[in-house]
Order: sequence, then C-alpha cells, then structure tokens
Amino acid sequence: MPKKLAAGNWKMNGLREALAEVKALNDACPTHDCDVLICPPATLMRSMAKVCDDMQIDVGGQDCHENTSGAHTGDISAPMLADTGATYVILGHSERRATYGETDRQIRAKTTAAWNANLTAIVCIGETLEERDAANTLDIVGAQLATSVPDNATAATLVVAYEPVWAIGTGKTPTLSEIEEVHTFIRNRLTDRFGAEGAEMRILYGGSMNPKNAADIAAVPNVDGGLVGGASLKASDFIHIVQALNA
Ligand code: PGA
Repeated sequence: MPKKLAAGNWKMNGLREALAEVKALNDACPTHDCDVLICPPATLMRSMAKVCDDMQIDVGGQDCHENTSGAHTGDISAPMLADTGATYVILGHSERRATYGETDRQIRAKTTAAWNANLTAIVCIGETLEERDAANTLDIVGAQLATSVPDNATAATLVVAYEPVWAIGTGKTPTLSEIEEVHTFIRNRLTDRFGAEGAEMRILYGGSMNPKNAADIAAVPNVDGGLVGGASLKASDFIHIVQALNA
C-alpha cells in the first residue's frame, strides 16, 4: 500500500503571518505515518521551507514553467522551486486549465521539467459537471491521464490527483462509490502502463475534502491521500485531515 499523502493547496492565499499555521500544525501533530505537504503561494515558499526544515512537513509549488529559465515574465521554473527547498509541485490544476488554457501536452512538458529538477509532480485530472452528466467521466479522466503523464513516471516521481472540477470549492463531493469507481479506473490505467510502479503510485482525491468527510474518503480503496484547498488553510481544520489519513 502506498504511503498516504495529505497535501494542502493554499492557492492565492496567505501572507507571512500564515506561517504560524504550519507551526501550529506541527505542534498538534509533530510525527505522523502519512506524508504531509503544504503548497503555499510562491511568495511564501522559501520562508515556509525554512520553518519546515526540522519538521515532517514538505513544501511544494502550485505550478512551474516547462523551461528552466528565459524570457517568461511572471513565471517560475522547476529549478527555482527546488531552489527554495520545495520537493513537490502541483501541475495541471483545473483552475490553471480553465483560466490559462493549460493543455495536457503542456502539463506533460511541465511534469518532465519538474522531474529534471528532482521535484515530485502532482498531476491533476478531473471532469466538469457537464462531462459527468454526459457519462463521460472515465473517458475524460483517462485521456487527461494518458497525455498529461510522461512515459517514464515512477511511484517516487508521480502523484495523481483526481479532482472533479464541480467539487472544488463548492462543498459538493461525489459519493464514496463514485470516488472508488474513478480511483480504481485510474489505478488500472497506471498498472497497465507502468506495471508494479503503477500499483505504488499515489492517487489523491481532491474537491471539498474537509474534517467531516476525510475519514470516509480516506477509507475508499485506491484513495492514497487528499489534495485539500480551503480546509488546508487553518491548522485546526487540516489537522483532522492529516489524522484521518494517518489512521
Ligand atoms: P477545495 O480545493 O478543497 O477547496 O475544494 C481543492 C483543490 O482545488 O485542490
């Protein structure tokens, strides 16, 4: 069984004072069997990495450019993320797919860039409500997975996050059996393509995961953790999700 991962995606939230939340999280749960990751805005990454230096908490980015350097105003490369102390990066989040038109091919290139900088890539996939209503969920998720993930993925370098777009920030979640159906489908695709490595790759659920539903979601077969937005901002909420994944 892969080691579970509790990943917090802070999105565009958090000033320096928010570093206190990481300290509070560590105080409440200094050791844990699951991995714990916070992906703060880029402005906080270096200071958070320093705060987390002697903690069992990893730091990650929320995106990276596919090139290592160059004339790309406003962008951040994977080596720059690694230079702050980050060890993970979220790629292909649906907010970036929707707002910036990121394609599966771009996400694949970014994933390779992340690996070249020794970052573990968390590749996000998931259907919209229209796609679910049209019974296209598995086709969409399968196609995103096939193109966004490069061929040389390993369990150490790739984490897949299944995030139904309609569940993100809405308070709505799929039923547990719907989550199981998609996670099992993703697992089968990963093992078909990557063999034994695919069996060990972590598949996170994301979308309105919260302290109340975390334990039930964590118990679903092939759910190896959570990618958590709103409920990761406050240590008092996120700690319950870490504990649910730790059980
Ligand atoms: P949410 O966001 O937990 O606030 O729904 C999850 C995500 O976008 O990763």
